[in-house]
Amino acid sequence: MSIWGGRFTQGMDEAFERFNASLSMDRRLIQEDIEGSMAYAEALAQAGILSPQELRRTLEGLGEIRDRAQQDPDFLADAKDEDVHSFVEARLVEIVGETGLKLHTGRSRNDQVAVDTRLFLKKAIGQVQQGLKGLMGELLNQARSHPDLVVPGYTHLRKAQPVLLAHYLLAWFEMFSRDRDRFEDCFRRTDCMPLGAGALAGNAFAVDREVLRRKLNFSRITPNSLDAVSDRDYLVDFVGAGSLTLVHLSRLAEDLIFFSTPECGWIELSDVVTTGSSLMPQKKNPDSLELLRGKSGRVIGNLTRLLVLLKGLPLTYNKDLQEDKEALFDTLDTLLDCLQVAQAVVRTLKVDAEAARKALEGNFMTATDLADYLVRKGMAFREAHGLVGRIVLECEGQQIGLSQLPLSRYRQLSSLFAEDLFQALSVRHSIEARSVPGGTAPERVAEALSHAEQSLTLQNPSERGTSV
Ligand code: ARG
Repeated sequence: MSIWGGRFTQGMDEAFERFNASLSMDRRLIQEDIEGSMAYAEALAQAGILSPQELRRTLEGLGEIRDRAQQDPDFLADAKDEDVHSFVEARLVEIVGETGLKLHTGRSRNDQVAVDTRLFLKKAIGQVQQGLKGLMGELLNQARSHPDLVVPGYTHLRKAQPVLLAHYLLAWFEMFSRDRDRFEDCFRRTDCMPLGAGALAGNAFAVDREVLRRKLNFSRITPNSLDAVSDRDYLVDFVGAGSLTLVHLSRLAEDLIFFSTPECGWIELSDVVTTGSSLMPQKKNPDSLELLRGKSGRVIGNLTRLLVLLKGLPLTYNKDLQEDKEALFDTLDTLLDCLQVAQAVVRTLKVDAEAARKALEGNFMTATDLADYLVRKGMAFREAHGLVGRIVLECEGQQIGLSQLPLSRYRQLSSLFAEDLFQALSVRHSIEARSVPGGTAPERVAEALSHAEQSLTLQNPSERGTSV
């Protein structure tokens, strides 16, 4: 029996029926749909719509559907129902008979789908947070394993200044920390219970929304029924946060691809995350990273899809909204896969200390330190910058590094130069000098590392399932 056929004299056009149905997609919400229905049945019993016995039957019936859906992957496969909500209701009526016809009293699929997706998303955010934490943990492991290793830092994809590898890795940690914050923020807005909004105007029966909220483990109830059934901002928040996470993963992928090229060579990717070529036997390709970079397009596409979906929609519910789920599910699946693969890449990568040392040679990477040296001896920075620039040019012409230019020549160029200039040119000195908070000096990086470790042990509300 269809859930809405009464006022119609003709059945649906076959193509439209297929077009209108969403079960193949929203079947993923079945557990949440049943959870919401169980709570709603209890609220209906409290409101005197279901007798205690009818409530018991309803809960048993819903429990049976839930168990079957968990155990039998084909349970929903050939169903002809329009969507997951009609599916559950139809099965309930099959199991408990007429009592099942009362469950939808005062409820609409509009508030039902909203509560389902919010319940689903709350769990999903918890999973994403776990994925982010996993990756962040691996970044910290790598940082801890190489406390003193120095690598070239880049600007404009040209070697710029030396930095500690741990400092470099913690930069990624910062990005993913912000991602965690953003997902928490999204969680807070998702953690709001819409059931009781009805189709749009509210519920005409004495269902206690506070009881529903508590049963379903939400922190708040939606304050406006019109907004409750048409709001999908929480999905935009999620896919938006996901897009930025994917952008971060894509940038990380790009760096690791570059650093693992034979031209750089100080990072080696493990066999377990690389592939070979079907033609060239020598190749070891970073496909895992290239896919991470490529997947960002999917999620950014999903964000555009949602924003365009919402852009012209009048209040309140419109069927356009049914199109939101693909964007949600695809974003979640992509995110979880990407975080897992990124974690494997970082966990298994090897750092070649000798290659890193070579990569620092002969690139004038401590030229700034030479200018800083002159500043400490009293020269104005802009003047020092100009002089060191000319020294670099001279060394380039002779194909030597800054420390190969003899002291006598340095002294011809400025009497401020003395023997200790060669110390200033050392990579170690360069690193140690940058001891401001947030800089690459070893003691600062050690502090940052322990701070990062602590932050990872904190549990977010999304991991507890509620924001209060
Ligand atoms: N399948 C629908 C969706 O996902 C459920 C809500 C249907 N509501 C309605 N008034 N037709 O949006």
